[in-house]
Amino acid sequence: MADSHCTMGSYPQTRLRRLRRNDWSRRLVQENHLSVNDLIWPLFICEGSSNREPIPSMPGVERLAISLAVEAVGEAVALGIPAVALFPATPAEKKTPECEEAVNGENLICRAVRAVKSAHGDRIGVICDVALDPYSSHGQDGLIRDGYVVNDETVAMLCRQAIVQAEAGCDIIAPSDMMDGRVAAIRGALDEAGFLDVQIMAYAAKYASAFYGPFRDAVGSSANLGSGDKRTYQMDVANSDEALREVALDIEEGADSVMVKPGMPYLDIVRRVKDSFGVPTFAYQVSGEYAMLSAAAERGWLDREKVMLESLLAFKRAGADGILTYFALEAAKLLH
Ligand code: PBG
Repeated sequence: MADSHCTMGSYPQTRLRRLRRNDWSRRLVQENHLSVNDLIWPLFICEGSSNREPIPSMPGVERLAISLAVEAVGEAVALGIPAVALFPATPAEKKTPECEEAVNGENLICRAVRAVKSAHGDRIGVICDVALDPYSSHGQDGLIRDGYVVNDETVAMLCRQAIVQAEAGCDIIAPSDMMDGRVAAIRGALDEAGFLDVQIMAYAAKYASAFYGPFRDAVGSSANLGSGDKRTYQMDVANSDEALREVALDIEEGADSVMVKPGMPYLDIVRRVKDSFGVPTFAYQVSGEYAMLSAAAERGWLDREKVMLESLLAFKRAGADGILTYFALEAAKLLH
């Protein structure tokens, strides 16, 4: 009977398993690599002299007082992490409809940047978000007129915000507001003020995602935002061509690098952006992604270290040049 014994021809001609058989061989043919140089660590800053406040929806992540943040950034420096992104948890009483605190050169984030830069200098890059949500009593990223987040007036505020952050020593301004034309306006304002070498990392393709929930808890904007959403400025999660238009505009307007956000559910966008433009492309593994993986690991349903490294490597495979991730410090330790 023809099918009862194997003939030569029925064996596979090509055996991909041959390359996978031993560890040395797997290492030899590995296409993508994750290194500490790929990691950007987002940190939450709070007021106080030695406060350390856990964020319940992000187990293992804490808001840190400036002095503790300086120490934490020191750990990142020691591990070779190239950059940190600092986010302020602005005290509720400083949040207003017109977001004046955003342009106060003595606000929490500016003081944090000064402290981090004076302790660590150019051993690490400091990134600051430009957007009004940490300062607004309504939780939106811009100024509201007749119930609508207005574009141009918001952009004027964002320029002033970028300047106070650059004056504090911020290396990379990261507009995360999704207003139109803000990259060109901020570039112009920075240049005019003499900050020719301050970079812009544009949150170019930022979606109106439900994965930002824990972040909004961390910076205390969830309650302010209430049942509101950001769909009149952040992108529709259903769209992909539109992401390319956003990225094209931001590059044209002078962005040095671009970002896709969220991360893991948007790897298709990372790949399209990288293939289409070939510019430094970052992905943000956002708070909700961190929360999902951490919660499953806490229950023993997933192996924390393995899913962390797998998820980060997946960003590299998709074409990302780097990843903003709350796992940065932990991952860096494992990569050493
Ligand atoms: C502020 C901002 C947000 C995040 C980064 N910058 C939240 C938002 O747009 O509502 C989210 C980051 C995260 O979820 O980890 N504009």
